[in-house]
Amino acid sequence: MSVWTACWQGLGLVVGALLAVFSWLWITRPRTNAPGPTPLPLLGNLPHFWRNLPVVVNDFRKLQRCYGDVFRFYLGPKLILVATQPNDARRLLVGCKMRERDDFTTRALFAYTGNGLIVSKGELWKAHRKIIEPTFHSEKRFYQPWLQIDWIISLTPDGEALKEQMTVLNGIVKKGIALLREKRLKALPKKRKTFLDVMIDDRGNFLLSENEVFDEVRTFVLAASDSTATALSCIFALLGLHPEWQDAIQKEVDEIFGTGDHYLRPAIDSDLAQLKVTEAVIKESLRLFPAVPVAPVFASEDIPLSYGRYVAPRGSVVFVFLNLLHRQPAFFPDPDKFDPRRFLVGGGAGALFPYSYLPFGAGSRLCVGARFAMLVMKTTLAMVMRQFRIVASCTREELEEIAVFITGKPVRDIRIKCIPRSAPTMKN
Ligand code: HEM
Repeated sequence: MSVWTACWQGLGLVVGALLAVFSWLWITRPRTNAPGPTPLPLLGNLPHFWRNLPVVVNDFRKLQRCYGDVFRFYLGPKLILVATQPNDARRLLVGCKMRERDDFTTRALFAYTGNGLIVSKGELWKAHRKIIEPTFHSEKRFYQPWLQIDWIISLTPDGEALKEQMTVLNGIVKKGIALLREKRLKALPKKRKTFLDVMIDDRGNFLLSENEVFDEVRTFVLAASDSTATALSCIFALLGLHPEWQDAIQKEVDEIFGTGDHYLRPAIDSDLAQLKVTEAVIKESLRLFPAVPVAPVFASEDIPLSYGRYVAPRGSVVFVFLNLLHRQPAFFPDPDKFDPRRFLVGGGAGALFPYSYLPFGAGSRLCVGARFAMLVMKTTLAMVMRQFRIVASCTREELEEIAVFITGKPVRDIRIKCIPRSAPTMKN
């Protein structure tokens, strides 16, 4: 037998074995009674999505219109269901005692964050969350060091830029850990606790291994910067498209920060508490454009959906699709309209239907940085609006083309112009 014949035979065997494995995975795939597009053998609905990459929120909106509030699709043999109603969001996010991550949906993130809090599972996640969560109970301790790191990352980085930034960041984090170790062994200021401090016990020993600390810091820098930057980008674009809401915010900041020399002073807690219009604008922007579009839930057991009409079978993944949830007309009349009045007193926000508005998720995997993110967004918005008028160079239609990834960014760049306002003493 010639070498070529042997090679062809070997190749044939490998292809045959792969086909057998894929066929077996396809035949034994989890099944559901939820409706959805017809899958092709082995490929599932992959062709439906890869014809128009990147996959955007509107693709899912079309499927929702076609199949209803719960629908399914297959990526190869992997079954994914999509849930868009508050009752299902509650069942999925809060109903499961310890929500597990699924390797399929976290694989992309693993490259950036390692086994940090977003990706980790089981007892490891539980232990780390217990250590890290208290840092966020008082934002003040956490605030300064994180803001500094946060702005190292530019707004809405693309994939390549993000990779580069993560490399730079890895260096910074390594240095930070080394410094901390050195500083700790010398003196321990007992009262001041920052994010890294809580990972160290009173004798200066790390509660987590150095690699674990490293993964958690990378996770937080990514989670904190990319989501907040995405949210702020959409907020600025919406404000550019709705100058009437810029007027309202500027009236508010002018009243709170006064006029004259102190106008540009840093915001303090009591200022932030008064920024009601600013907060309503942020909340309404997060309703229309939640920076994290999907909260994925791994079905470790059969989960009934839509009041028992459908079942998400064990082994499948359910996407709680926040963009679609937030635009349910039954809970948000005229759902596509940007109307921050919904979140002002008397605007219905007090009577929000439970689990109809979840920009930070819910349940055990609720965003640990939610309060911190609100602080950063309020501070940034107040600072910018004191000094600039925003003019949007993009349209609302362009903004609506949101790519579905870990964060939901518009496919086209968000373009805005910042025009300096006249001096604060001459309010416009
Ligand atoms: C506008 C800004 C932000 C938005 C919209 C946002 C949204 C979310 C959402 C929806 C989840 C839950 C995902 C799920 O259920 O699977 C989440 C988780 C998480 N967020 Fe945020 N986030 C923001 C800012 C931040 C900040 C500033 C930090 C850190 C300082 C942070 C750290 C995390 C972490 C670590 C998790 C994973 C928690 C876990 O799985 O236990 N996020 N975020």
